[in-house]
Amino acid sequence: MAKQKVVSGIRPTGKLHLGNYFGAIHNWLELQKKYDCTYIIVDWHALTTHYKDTKELQENIKEMAIDLLSCGIDPKKVTLFVQSHIKEHAELFLLLSMITPLGWLERNPTYKEQVKELASKDISNLGFLGYPVLQTADIILYDGEVVPVGKDQLPYLEVAREITRRFNYLYGNTFKEPQSLLTETPLILGTDGRKMSKSYNNTIYLSESAESFDKKIKTFITDPRRKRKTDPGDPKDCPAFQNFHKRFMNREEQAHITEGCTKAKIGCLECKTRLLDKMTLWIEPIRSKRKELSKDPGQLYTILEDGAERAKKVASHSMSRVRKALNL
Ligand code: TRP
Ligand code: SF4
Repeated sequence: MAKQKVVSGIRPTGKLHLGNYFGAIHNWLELQKKYDCTYIIVDWHALTTHYKDTKELQENIKEMAIDLLSCGIDPKKVTLFVQSHIKEHAELFLLLSMITPLGWLERNPTYKEQVKELASKDISNLGFLGYPVLQTADIILYDGEVVPVGKDQLPYLEVAREITRRFNYLYGNTFKEPQSLLTETPLILGTDGRKMSKSYNNTIYLSESAESFDKKIKTFITDPRRKRKTDPGDPKDCPAFQNFHKRFMNREEQAHITEGCTKAKIGCLECKTRLLDKMTLWIEPIRSKRKELSKDPGQLYTILEDGAERAKKVASHSMSRVRKALNL
């Protein structure tokens, strides 16, 4: 049986941090094992909010590609490319915009939420309002059947489904309606214990130097009750443990640490040093792959061109169907 088709996108707005990794990329790595995946670096989507200053756009695209490939996104298994390399996304976006009622966009909870959240940015632009329309084009151009989404993005996928239904109703059955695959987006805390986010300045990047990475882990906030080694604490109240020990240590090791922490038999620095040993095993291969790709941008661009070439075939086939359906 043919594998089901997954489509997903990521906006190249900066380097990936551990919050992004455990929120999205970890999931992409799982999906590529079972599905026929199309992963898009959506630079046009990045422009919907970051349109004023585009100086860093190319660098961000490159860094995103390096991050994804270093983490293990496998270009032999998935189709990985840059959205703006395939102009069909723009053409389909335009045509879909004709059949999308403004109300669907203006009343969308994700839209309203984002407008509130990004109040400091001027996003009263047509491009941002049309964000889910462009996203719909991304998905149906590649016959996406399954789209992994976090809860906050669900309303955008609902719009994608509605637009697809309306297209099929108006012009004849052309596209499969994409289904959402609700994925858990774990809350990853930053070095200060708040949600890890660029805007809080509490991030740990995948591309961090070993030295700085180690330092950030070693000084990562722990249970505040453990001022001295003799003060007992609880891993449940320890941001470091909740973020990392839970992910990098097995049950036995976790139980051992819980015992040491609650009975004040182990200090936080020692506890995090043990953690760091495990994290280093995980991140070392990512670092060396990153080094290899950074040294040889040719290899990187070949991968992206190859991805675009494969995407282009599918997208142009979809667009011939669309033009035919619309009598264009
Ligand atoms: N909206 C998604 C996000 O911010 C990015 C995205 C763009 C996307 N196009 C897509 C996701 C198509 C899934 C499918 O994370
Ligand atoms: Fe956290 Fe470990 Fe310190 Fe306990 S001993 S507070 S689990 S770092």
